Amino acid sequence: MKSESRLLQADFEKRWRKRFEEFAALRDDDAGIAGWTSSGLDVRFRNFVNLWQSTTHGQSWLDVGCGAGTYSRYLASRGARVVGLDYCLASVAKAKRRDTGNCCWAAADVTRLPLKAGGVDGVICFGVLQALTSSGPAIRELVAQVGEGGEVWIDALNGYCIANVLQRMLRWLHGKSMHLRYESPRRLKGLMIEAGLSEVRIHWIPILPAGLKALQPAMDGRLFGLLLRYVPGLGMFFSHSCLLRGVKR
Ligand SMILES: C[S@@+](CC[C@H](N)C(=O)[O-])C[C@H]1O[C@@H](n2cnc3c(N)ncnc32)[C@H](O)[C@@H]1O
Repeated sequence: MKSESRLLQADFEKRWRKRFEEFAALRDDDAGIAGWTSSGLDVRFRNFVNLWQSTTHGQSWLDVGCGAGTYSRYLASRGARVVGLDYCLASVAKAKRRDTGNCCWAAADVTRLPLKAGGVDGVICFGVLQALTSSGPAIRELVAQVGEGGEVWIDALNGYCIANVLQRMLRWLHGKSMHLRYESPRRLKGLMIEAGLSEVRIHWIPILPAGLKALQPAMDGRLFGLLLRYVPGLGMFFSHSCLLRGVKR
């Protein structure tokens, strides 16, 4: 039984790797290469920019699972020295082509990063956990990369979001296997703390399906942001994704 579930897990990760390789080979826009919808990437990126207040001038940052390098280029534009890493060679090649020479690029797996522990000031890792069978090994590896006072930013698909729960139930009722892995934000926070981070905070990212994108600006506004933060349960049950940030102490 155990070996069967291990096989299913290996199969899940293999299928995603193949998909990412196809996206990167066949598509030419940032969202497409990464496997996001363009509205999905827009909302995620906007939220990150709004939340991200680090002073990065001269700091070194890793963007693990960099895809087309959207976030790497942004961090570099804010003065950071950035290395973008991805296990998919075609993504690394496309990210490199889009860059004007400000970042370094390399192929690497998030669970086996070929870098000196504690060597960077910050790490971001977006869109990766959902394609892994478990978050723990990746989180430990990401946290190991930053030195004391360094930041780790991770995102995940929110396993408590009502729309996500319904979607998973429908797949289950139709006998379909797991397509993406949804995560408990609280569990993720616990894993980040266990790995050595403190001040870990969950930020809710409500993302409407592409068909409802005209309504997205209302969700991105300050008022909805305050509601998400202060109305109990609103963020947890109505946000498609979550973004967590912690500091290594
Ligand atoms: C959904 S895309 C997100 C790309 C980028 N971070 C963004 O948000 O636009 C996920 C990326 O992570 C990469 N990836 C997935 N699993 C990985 C792993 N185990 N190690 C390194 N990269 C991985 C994929 O190749 C893909 O480019």
